[in-house]
Amino acid sequence: MDTERLQAYISSLINKSSGLFAEMEAFAAENGVPIMEPAGMEALLQILRIQEPKAILEVGTAIGYSALRMAEALPAAQIVTIERDEDRCRLAASYIGRAGKDEQVTLIAGDALEAAEQAVNHAPFDALFIDAAKGQYQKFFEIYEPLLKQGGVVMTDNVLFKGLVAETEIENKRTRRLVNKIDAFNRWLVSHPGYDTIIIPAGDGIAVSRKR
Ligand SMILES: C[S@@+](CC[C@H](N)C(=O)[O-])C[C@H]1O[C@@H](n2cnc3c(N)ncnc32)[C@H](O)[C@@H]1O
Repeated sequence: MDTERLQAYISSLINKSSGLFAEMEAFAAENGVPIMEPAGMEALLQILRIQEPKAILEVGTAIGYSALRMAEALPAAQIVTIERDEDRCRLAASYIGRAGKDEQVTLIAGDALEAAEQAVNHAPFDALFIDAAKGQYQKFFEIYEPLLKQGGVVMTDNVLFKGLVAETEIENKRTRRLVNKIDAFNRWLVSHPGYDTIIIPAGDGIAVSRKR
């Protein structure tokens, strides 16, 4: 079965955004900001609706799109989100303000590899969403999973990387290195003794790991 056609079909069933979310999606598309794909976003939100987390930590805010989507879908949840790019932090802060979600969404401006001390002030978390530099996924996981409650869920985006993890021959060296890193992370994650993990082929592939 053609995966791209299936993804396109699933995406065609998803309602179009309006208002601020439509504006953010257009901004991201025009300015090359990588925000979550619609099918991946819906899968993530649905898992969170079922889990009903009270506190969520996101690594990789970009302009605040997924943080605000989570805030809207889960009005009872507090969301803490980390972003290292200053321009994106400014944009995210502005969108969070315009959405009226300053009380619900806390933005930590800084490198997630060094921001654990700030995040710990908001711990423990019920859910952790990793969506930052793909080559560093294992580090992000190791730094932030100790802040997760037992039974908590880690969701990691882009673990199928446009299907490239299943390709045997990749010409571009840089892409091949990154694919190898993601593949190594996936293998490490599924055999992690502290977590039960599945990979859902929605959007760019989401690993869903539940803490034992
Ligand atoms: C894919 S985007 C996040 C998209 C966002 N979750 C959404 O769907 O709306 C990844 C973001 O992670 C940020 N990032 C990458 N490495 C980071 C790090 N070590 N610490 C903090 N942010 C990082 C990038 O600057 C980028 O804005």
